[in-house]
Amino acid sequence: MEGAIDSKTIPLIPGHKIPVHAIGLLNNPLKAISKMIDSYGDIFNLKLAKDSNIIFVNHPDYVKHILKDNQENYSRGNAVKQSSITGLHDFLGNGIFMSDDEDWEAQHKLLKGLFSVTAIESTLPIIEDELGKLIAKWSHQVINNPTVEVEEEMLLMMMRIMLRTQVSNELNFDYNAIFNALTGRVEASSVKALFRYQLKAFTLKPLGINYKYTKHQEYLDTLNDIADKLVSGLINEEYKPSGLFAIMLADYKLNKTTRTDIRDQFMNFVFAAFDTTATAITWTLYHLAAYPKIQQQVNEELATSIQKEPDTHISNRQFPLLQLLIKETLRLYPPVWSYAREAAESDTINGYPIPAKSIIVISSYALHRHPEFWPSGDNFNIANFEKENFKGKTFAYIPFGQGKRMCVGRALAEYQMQIIVEGILQQFQLDTISKKKPEINANIIIKGTEPVRLKLVKR
Ligand code: HEM
Repeated sequence: MEGAIDSKTIPLIPGHKIPVHAIGLLNNPLKAISKMIDSYGDIFNLKLAKDSNIIFVNHPDYVKHILKDNQENYSRGNAVKQSSITGLHDFLGNGIFMSDDEDWEAQHKLLKGLFSVTAIESTLPIIEDELGKLIAKWSHQVINNPTVEVEEEMLLMMMRIMLRTQVSNELNFDYNAIFNALTGRVEASSVKALFRYQLKAFTLKPLGINYKYTKHQEYLDTLNDIADKLVSGLINEEYKPSGLFAIMLADYKLNKTTRTDIRDQFMNFVFAAFDTTATAITWTLYHLAAYPKIQQQVNEELATSIQKEPDTHISNRQFPLLQLLIKETLRLYPPVWSYAREAAESDTINGYPIPAKSIIVISSYALHRHPEFWPSGDNFNIANFEKENFKGKTFAYIPFGQGKRMCVGRALAEYQMQIIVEGILQQFQLDTISKKKPEINANIIIKGTEPVRLKLVKR
């Protein structure tokens, strides 16, 4: 895009408006960014200091430029390291999510092997085992109480699947301890939690109380202890590793990987590999419950497919309607709802000058509702993804990102989603608890302000 169009000026958020927007961003960043877009357009600058530029971008052409056409200029690692307020760097170290350039390339090359068709299919017995246990538990439970904590159960199940398939299928993990430390860590290091801490410290100071916030560090210490034991056990060959840990051990033996690299990659997987899929499945089940006609059609699609080819496994079937439903779910509730990049060099996007070191923020939540590309964008409509309706919208829809840094686990996530959603639908009829649309909010992932619960009846 450089040089093609006359230079323009990026709208600047007026200084007196900054506090209002800052509070909005802390309370509900999804709504706040959308409101700012309504006021300032598809590109604007939140300038907090003389040399700082936080540029929000919300047009598919600009997104294409940043995530694909000129992606070498836009670093994720540097952007996330800058916002040290969330402490993500302490947590994720120099794993794939945080790395850039050759370092990223080497990690990406190594990890790609985990997402080949064969590697993905090898996770099937564990997925089926965990899903079978959950279905047995729910079948028993719904006889007396049809209300099921879908969101929480999905998170726990996907975490178990991730640990068994990527660390080891032999270990007795303390799943609850890992889960609590992880969710605690993500919550406690959110901008919101740190802001509350600062307020508390400020209020208590005149009383002579020196309040120190240590919660996020406590959770991280627990996670580090867990990782440390797992990595020691791996290196001492105390258990048979699977997936990620198997390839990391092979690399370690060749002196290509260090203990710290294994710890960091473990944290990256704990961070990126199950919360996302669990949340996507939860929202897909919610949509099936909220739209009974679609639930019936998806169920018929499954029944017809089984009738035609009774011996084919669910994972090898094609479910076009379910695919539309999942795509629409990821449009409305993209689990990873924001992208951050840092511009290495100055650049121009559609005539707008981007100073070097600017932080770029893209909200896929807002982009997926852009009125020019998604008329009635807040409304659920699976026809959005019929071929003729989706034409030309590749960069208006980015649930898995774009360019070379797009989600490396996408194929695994899609495989798991199909098996789990169809497996649950085969056994249960789903209904919502209330007809009201759930309120949503976001930390790192989009979730309901109340965890999603559904009513289940055994078929
Ligand atoms: C529905 C489920 C998932 C969604 C919506 C999702 C979404 C995303 C997105 C949007 C990014 C790119 C972020 C950016 O560009 O800043 C990303 C990156 C990543 N995802 Fe996923 N993800 C999902 C599942 C998974 C799974 C199952 C795994 C691994 C087993 C995984 C591992 C990763 C990793 C390692 C990266 C960093 C890739 C890189 O920097 O090269 N994700 N994901």
